[in-house]
Amino acid sequence: MSSRRRKNKTACLILAAGKGTRMNSAKNKVLHALLGRPMVAYAVDRARELDASPIVAILGHQKDEVAKALQDQFPDEDIVVVEQKEQKGTGHAVRLGLRPLAEFDGLVVILYGDVPLLRSETMADLVDEAGKTGGMAMLTAVVRDPTGYGRIVRDDAGNIREVVEDKDTSHAQRRIAEVNAGIYAAPAEFLRKATAKLNARNAQGEYYLTDIVAQASSSIGVTSVEVSAEEMAGVNDRAQLVGAERSLLGRLVREHSKRATFRDPSLVYVEASVIIEPDVEIGRNVVLRGKTTIAAGTRIDDGVILTDTAVGGGVHILPYSVSTQATIGDGAKIGPFAHLRPGTELGPDVHVGNFVETKKTRLGRGSKANHLTYLGDAIVGEKVNVGAGTITCNYNGYEKRQTIIEDGAFIGSDTQLVAPVRVGKRAVVAAGATITEDIRPGALAISRSPCKQLDGYADRLAERYPKKSSR
Ligand code: UD1
Ligand code: CA
Repeated sequence: MSSRRRKNKTACLILAAGKGTRMNSAKNKVLHALLGRPMVAYAVDRARELDASPIVAILGHQKDEVAKALQDQFPDEDIVVVEQKEQKGTGHAVRLGLRPLAEFDGLVVILYGDVPLLRSETMADLVDEAGKTGGMAMLTAVVRDPTGYGRIVRDDAGNIREVVEDKDTSHAQRRIAEVNAGIYAAPAEFLRKATAKLNARNAQGEYYLTDIVAQASSSIGVTSVEVSAEEMAGVNDRAQLVGAERSLLGRLVREHSKRATFRDPSLVYVEASVIIEPDVEIGRNVVLRGKTTIAAGTRIDDGVILTDTAVGGGVHILPYSVSTQATIGDGAKIGPFAHLRPGTELGPDVHVGNFVETKKTRLGRGSKANHLTYLGDAIVGEKVNVGAGTITCNYNGYEKRQTIIEDGAFIGSDTQLVAPVRVGKRAVVAAGATITEDIRPGALAISRSPCKQLDGYADRLAERYPKKSSR
């Protein structure tokens, strides 16, 4: 931290004090998630890429919640929080944000918590521009519909003279298509002086940060870096929120697609935190969330939903399987329709088939549970075969209890293992058993009532119902 502070001269202010009324939400706008991360995190990403220090967040509405989200997202970054109790305008927010920077004499970059699509390269260009000219640099965009944005007013020589806010425009100014993205880089000393001079004599009665542009124009100079309308787009309502998420997702999937195959890139959802190694194949309607990692050569079929799941290499996950907080070993085969719940740890070459649910369960190398099974609170050794319809009865109504199945054991179909219970190495449990005691290694365990047979029964039954007989 301190070495960084010495060698670089960029600080960053992130404005995020507003509520975001048009979201119609109990939650602050900047806390709404894009690809699983709060919107405000994207502004901090840009600041970190610039090696900015300090990073100052100006917070107001739900200040504590936003500060906590920042702490969760960036545990190693000490983000300075400044409270703006009343939102008196962007100029007022910046003035407050400059307070912790009283001694700072480098470049200050101003970002917003609700503008998440800015690219790293754009921000680097903006900082370069300000560095090169020694003046102020700002992002501007030419847009089809400039309504709502501040307009860039240039003189005949093309130099920026001022920004006029939408509500303060003259009839002629309203038609200016070049708008203010609201993102700036300027020397701290200039910002301190310029924001001190602001007043709120305008259509909205706010301290407009944009008024510093005219001040820069007549002192240190102001130049622009052009940005696309897509990149500068702010998020004000839920439609824009999902639109922004779609843009970010498109970029992310295009990046992953350089090494992994997405059968239909428009039909996946991948969060920013997901790691996908080369040669992975991903089907349609796949959802990958949280700390999910997928190792090389793995195939994820259609409709699979993975959350916080570490998938090994060469794994095949068949359609419509769901996994949360689980690990899947190399070469395993999962699904279709498998449900891996938290605490599932599958070793290499394990098979977990259709309608199998696992929870807090370990399966050792090469073990199989291929059909219709529930394994909860279980430790299963290597090369164990768990037959169809096996159930660990792990809950007695008060507490969870453990089942242990040792290496090489064979559990026949339709077995109930009433925990706590242990099945020894290579033991065989016959189909239909209810196991309530430990089974010795290598033993056969049978628990079923003897089968009785009554000859000629079908004929007697048919005679009793002559009119309805169908067999
Ligand atoms: C601002 C610009 C406008 C530009 C537009 C681009 C001003 C006066 N206008 O307008 O020229 O085209 O951005 O999106 O700057 N905020 C605070 N405290 C405040 C006021 C705002 O923290 O007192 C924060 C908001 O939470 C938001 C950001 O600053 O994240 C922008 O504020 P907003 O009111 O949305 O500004 P615009 O009217 O969009
Ligand atoms: Ca805005």
